[in-house]
Parts: sequence; C-alpha cells; structure tokens
Amino acid sequence: VAVRHPERRREPALPAELLTTDPGAVVTDPTVDLVVEVMGGLDPARGLIVRALKAGKPVVTANKELLAARGAELFEVAGAAGVDLLFEAAVGGGIPLIRPLRESLAGEDVRRITGIVNGTTNFVLTRMTEDGTSYEEAMAEARRRGYAEADPTADVEGWDAAAKAAILASVAFGAPIRGADVHREGITALGAVDIAAARRLGFVIKLLAVVEAAGGGVAVRVHPAMVPADHPLASVRDSFNAVFVEGPAVGELMFLGRGAGGSPTASAVLGDLLDAAHNLRAGGPGRTVQLHDVPLRPIDELVSACYLSLEVADRPGVLHAVTGVLGRHQVSIRSMEQDPEPGEAGARLLFVTHPAAERDLQACLRDLSELDVVRRVGNLIRVVG
Ligand SMILES: NC(=O)c1ccc[n+]([C@@H]2O[C@H](COP(=O)([O-])OP(=O)(O)OC[C@H]3O[C@@H](n4cnc5c(N)ncnc54)[C@H](OP(=O)(O)O)[C@@H]3O)[C@@H](O)[C@H]2O)c1
Repeated sequence: VAVRHPERRREPALPAELLTTDPGAVVTDPTVDLVVEVMGGLDPARGLIVRALKAGKPVVTANKELLAARGAELFEVAGAAGVDLLFEAAVGGGIPLIRPLRESLAGEDVRRITGIVNGTTNFVLTRMTEDGTSYEEAMAEARRRGYAEADPTADVEGWDAAAKAAILASVAFGAPIRGADVHREGITALGAVDIAAARRLGFVIKLLAVVEAAGGGVAVRVHPAMVPADHPLASVRDSFNAVFVEGPAVGELMFLGRGAGGSPTASAVLGDLLDAAHNLRAGGPGRTVQLHDVPLRPIDELVSACYLSLEVADRPGVLHAVTGVLGRHQVSIRSMEQDPEPGEAGARLLFVTHPAAERDLQACLRDLSELDVVRRVGNLIRVVG
C-alpha cells in the first residue's frame, strides 16, 4: 500500500510493514497481482498505470482527470495487454453507471446522456433555488459542509463535469474525446435574477453534462441549463448526482445517487476490484473501452431553445428594437415577459426562444449588446429536457 504520509493515523490501521511511500514498488512487486490507483493527478499516476498494465496487472482507478486527459492511451495499452482497466468510481462516485453503460446497454443505440455529475455545484444551485441565497452564501455553506474544496474552481467552472462528460462519451459512444475538448460553461455568472426567473417560467437551473449523437459524431458540452420543473433531473437536489440516459429501445433511464465521498467511491472501487479479481482468476481477456474515429461536433452546430434576460431602458420602442434583432437572426420568441422586479437600469425582459442555432443566438447577443436601449445583456441559458 503506497501512501504519501506513512505516519498518518488510518482507520482501520494498517501494519507498518504493508506501507511504502514508493508507489512504483507496489506496481513492480511480483506478489501484487492487481493495482488500485486512488492517488489522483496525471503524474506519476499515468506512468504507474501503464507499467502495471504492461506487466499484465489489471488496474482499477478512480482518476477521472487522468482518464479524461489520457484515456485513449490507457485504453489502448490495456487492450494490447489484454487486462482489465476498470473505473466505475471515476464518474458518479458510488452510482453504478460505467458498467451498466458498457455491459447492460451494450446492445442499445444510446442517443443522449444528460447528467448532473458534480455534487458541489448541484448543492450550490439547490441552495440558491430553495433558500434564495446568493452564489457566495451557498458556496460558503458548501464549504462548511465539506462539499467544496478549498479551491472550488474545477467544480464551479465546469472542469470536473467536462472530464466526466468526456469519459461518458468514450464509454457510451466510443469517442476519443478529452476533457479539454468539451465546450464548458460554469455556474459563477448565475445570479438570483436567473434563479427567480427560472422558477417563474417553470424551470430549475442545473449544471448539466450533455453527451449526444449528432451529425454522424458526438456533441459533448457542460453548461447551466433550464430544466423543466417536471423533468426527473429537476428533482435531483443537494449534492446528489444523476445521469439520464436515452435510447430508442430502452427509452429513458435515470441513475441517481451519491456522486462523491469516501464511502460511495470506495464501494465502486471495491466492485471493480472484485470484478477484476474474478476475471484474473478465470484467465479470460480483460475488458476496456474500444475507441473509434467518432468526430466531436462543434458547439456552433447546436440547436436549442434558450432563456435570455435583458436589462433595457423603460421607454417606448424598446421591444421593437429588441425583437427586430432576434428576428433578423431567425431567433423566434416562444414567450416574453417583463420581470416584476425591475433591473438596476430600468426594465428587465425575460425571453424564452424556440429552438435556434447557436451561431444565430451568439450573433443576437452581439447585436443586442450594441443597441442603445439595452443596458445589459444577461445570461443566455439553454433549455434542456
Ligand atoms: N473523494 C471522492 O469523493 C472521489 C470521488 C470520485 C473519484 N475520486 C478520485 O479518487 C482519487 C483520489 O481522491 P481522494 O479524494 O480520495 O484523494 P486523497 O484523499 O488525497 O487520497 C489520495 C491517497 O493517495 C495517496 N497518495 C497521493 N499521492 C501519493 C504519492 N505520490 N505516493 C504515494 N501515495 C500517494 C495519499 O496518501 P496519504 O493518505 O498518505 O496522504 C492518499 O491516501 C482522485 O483521482 C479523485 O478524482 C475521488
């Protein structure tokens, strides 16, 4: 057992002679048949896993960061060595998700996976929605409860969710997507105005990871979304994670549970460990992800309905100017209302559009920000589900 601090008290205590600070010694020890990597980070974890796999030792890992950055290489090494590389804990912590996608749904033509895959941001958004607290207050509570790291950037900026989305794209679509390639927007720009508007319009705001078949490839993105209040993902509260899977034969499935934390994650790691041990004893070929040349579709091609808030001057002719811009870019309005709480600069208008092309929506935002009657262009939040 390699650790960094051998002097640390552990529960249960391990005999001192089992501990080393040299993970390489564990990997090369001839009495070690199977390696569990839960040290995290890219290096030295990557090199250690490659060494283990090449030596014919199955590897169980929880390392989403590494899989999202170097998954293609690791899957290839595992495939060539014919040993298991299992990673149930890397997405959704204790939720059985990778194995159902790879095995139970192997015969399904999965069309879309929509997930709440980051517990910190789901907790923050739940508190903002249910208690009307600000982002800062909700984040402070997440820290007090141990749901947020000292530096929450990877969570609130969507990096963690993007890594998981990339892994889901590999598992469900065989697409060689890296976390860094995933279109990503975090939750830091969301305000009480958006949360209140969502409620009034019948939505709940969630940070979603979306992986879907599109244009002969796969589209992968992470962004805050307006989820209809009656959609199963809307009811996923606090630090819970959930992943909603859609396919033509199976219909709709949802996997729900604790996406992080020591015990749920350990449960997933142990499940993989037993699976790998069985396979090792049976002497069968190992299993890992097979990647293919599946292209990543750019966010520009996305077509989705959107919510948009605008702070405008409170005077005649404003609506005409605003709807003129939307019309010019083929963005059709599904509903429009004036927020009863006025904005700082005058009136606040809330729009929900019909499905529109991303590039047209972005062009609208640019032109709207140049109108002299528009004081501020608020957040554009896509409607999902
Ligand atoms: N925690 C979760 O909820 C969760 C959920 C899903 C996935 N994961 C993934 O699990 C991995 C570990 O996360 P964690 O939160 O459990 O981290 P952690 O609490 O910091 O645990 C890391 C462990 O690895 C040991 N370690 C780290 N660097 C080492 C080195 N260079 N040599 C020897 N031992 C080393 C540490 O030893 P010491 O004990 O001596 O410090 C510690 O036991 C990460 O990849 C993370 O993304 C975690």
